[in-house]
Amino acid sequence: MKKDPLGEVYLSAEQIQDRVKELGKMISATYQGKELLLLGILKGSFVFMADLVRNIEIPHSLDFMAISSYEGVEGSPEAVKILKDLDESITGKHVVIVEDIIDTGLTLGYLIRHLEARNPGSINICTLLDRSIRRIVPLPISFTGFDIPDVFVVGYGMDYRQLYRNLPALHLCDITV
Ligand code: IMP
Ligand code: MG
Repeated sequence: MKKDPLGEVYLSAEQIQDRVKELGKMISATYQGKELLLLGILKGSFVFMADLVRNIEIPHSLDFMAISSYEGVEGSPEAVKILKDLDESITGKHVVIVEDIIDTGLTLGYLIRHLEARNPGSINICTLLDRSIRRIVPLPISFTGFDIPDVFVVGYGMDYRQLYRNLPALHLCDITV
């Protein structure tokens, strides 16, 4: 019989919710009086995005993009493809990219260069998880939920082979089974 890859809880639903509230407050304070656009990167960020926007107290719009994950030759920007582009212009807007987890930063590094060409007012990143020890491309991460070591996690929107996105907590996952 195949072993279940799902492991123990790494961050509880309550720990996540408490931190998301704080991130919402920080974003509200930082972008007061500015034209704010939250840009979720599909699919992993959809749960975090839904909770985050309900904790932001200032007017803002939101949009989503889907990009292929970085599976090509290391360092080659052609390896990232835009599968779903923005619906509206970001020119002059203050963009906060919402991510589930940032690892090497290769995918987001490419995306930011691409978005900068569209002349936004500013671009920052809000990520629930930052596996900063694996970073290759330096990124402007202004809002971080939790810094995590080199463990693979699922739940709260994050998947292993498209499963477990529905779990309200974050769990460790053994991707060798
Ligand atoms: P990178 O920063 O370009 O290396 O890629 C980060 C992306 O890989 C994230 O947005 C996730 O979609 C995926 N990813 C990285 N680590 C994990 C994990 O522990 N669980 C689930 N997805 C992950
Ligand atoms: Mg992602």
